[in-house]
Amino acid sequence: MKKTGSLVLLLLVLQHSFGQFLQENGIDPYHYTSQKKLIANKGAVASAHPLASMVGTAILKKGGNAFDAAIATQLALAVVYPTAGNLGGGGFLVGQLKSGKQVAIDYREKAPAAAHRDLYIDENGKANTDKSQLGHLAAGVPGTVAGLFATHQFATFSFADLITPAIELAERGFCISAGEARGLNAIQTDLKKYNTHTPAFVKSEGWKEGDTLRQPQLAATLKRIKEKGKAGFYEGETAQLIVEEMKRGNGIISLEDLKKYEAAFRTPHRFSYKEYVIVSMPMPSSGGLLLNQMMKMVENRNLGKMGFQTAESVQLMTEVMRRAYADRAAYMGDADYYPVPVREITEAAYLKKRMEDYDPTKASDSKIVKPGVPLKKESEETTHLSVMDSEGNAVAVTTTLNNSYGSRTVIGGAGFFINDEMDDFSVQPGVPNMYGAIGGEANSIQPGKRMLSSMTPTLVLKNGKPYIVVGTPGGTTIPNQVFQTLMNLLEFGLSAEDAVNKPKFHHQWLPDELVTEKGFPEAVKMSLQNMGYRFAKERSGIGRTELIRVLPDGKLEVIADGRGDDSAAGF
Ligand code: DON
Repeated sequence: MKKTGSLVLLLLVLQHSFGQFLQENGIDPYHYTSQKKLIANKGAVASAHPLASMVGTAILKKGGNAFDAAIATQLALAVVYPTAGNLGGGGFLVGQLKSGKQVAIDYREKAPAAAHRDLYIDENGKANTDKSQLGHLAAGVPGTVAGLFATHQFATFSFADLITPAIELAERGFCISAGEARGLNAIQTDLKKYNTHTPAFVKSEGWKEGDTLRQPQLAATLKRIKEKGKAGFYEGETAQLIVEEMKRGNGIISLEDLKKYEAAFRTPHRFSYKEYVIVSMPMPSSGGLLLNQMMKMVENRNLGKMGFQTAESVQLMTEVMRRAYADRAAYMGDADYYPVPVREITEAAYLKKRMEDYDPTKASDSKIVKPGVPLKKESEETTHLSVMDSEGNAVAVTTTLNNSYGSRTVIGGAGFFINDEMDDFSVQPGVPNMYGAIGGEANSIQPGKRMLSSMTPTLVLKNGKPYIVVGTPGGTTIPNQVFQTLMNLLEFGLSAEDAVNKPKFHHQWLPDELVTEKGFPEAVKMSLQNMGYRFAKERSGIGRTELIRVLPDGKLEVIADGRGDDSAAGF
């Protein structure tokens, strides 16, 4: 008896140090480093945080498939990457099953039932984007937990097993990185302003690298999900806590909104590019459609020959960006509410016409380049993770709270940030959102509607098999980044590492300016300036791309973006 007692005690002590799952799988949340590149034989995960990638890989090693790993990785990110990993946000998954079946799961947030077109218009008729970006009213009905349960039908482990690592990380805590400390310190004032209680993220003396972040309230929320499934979030105590928080801060999400939330299965947006098939996210993301338009506009123009980041190639790519993003502003929004002319604006004849006024010697003008006219009338702070397993399943997930740390409001008693995704709607025609994007009727606010996204989780297939898994955060820069990463690989022949890490550029029609990332070649900038391009202030970083590519010998080349704490893991 005594012996059993001490064994139990020993086990308890062991468990107490950093949780059984983490311990058994050699994951030490107090000592970890990022791995930027790796070659894996069987399965791999690239995500925004080393601990999340390690959790996903541990699930793969135990025999889980890429969907199991994607679920466990997202749940771990909800704990260790509060800037964008989430329970209170939404996302998209694009995947291919080993059977060859493709899936797109839409767990984008929705406008609450009490939302309306003029929700953010003040008494003088002016848009108040503070309210769509910060605090309770900025929040859409969160979709992530529903999305994870929708994904679970393709998984093999119990949901309880997949959520356990996240619970351990939330309960026992983990050491934060220098980047996370900086991120949390930057929002301390907002945290005080937009919260009705003191969340775990507040630290009066400031955060520093290596500090332990424990999130007991989040752990309790995760446990309710573990016990009650989807209802552990959308009903009962968690739902009650969300609604009470909303009431304290003049938010409008109701119990009914939560109870009614469902993830949606969509038909992936597919198109061919040379010998490849691209599988990406359809509406309510503009990502797949923009990627389609842009890749098709360059497909027959010898982009590869122009060379990586020459004035010639950057100029061509900028002009296709301009034209595609003009269409985004006019035509794209939740296709459940607005007839998005997807087929019409991807037709070869339409895209050819779009490029008729393209002049390789000078900048077009966004005042003249308007959204295209379909030839026929229509008929019909984010984070990305890429996962592949040894069975042929491939999963790309991009998920978001919108801004980093979302609305900056943490649900009292439930411990997670709620999103500020409502700002992705066009709050008023012509009024730019936080990414400078404008829109109109297609993306106006309506109850139950999903706000237009740019997230572009994408697979590239070669001979029908997954070849590349890719995606990134970055607001409206996302489709352009995925476009560039793919062109870097498929046209310019860059290494996977360079395709991810070389400086990126961005044009979104309006504002009519080119955004470049630090390190973008000055000489190219000069040539483009001479052709009439205006440049915005250079950005220190654009996105965080996570890429997996299958090598000719079947091994997996895994690249985690060099810009953050992003990390690759695999075996
Ligand atoms: O859905 C979208 O397009 C945006 N809410 C994504 C936000 C994002 O990427 C923030 N990260 N930098």
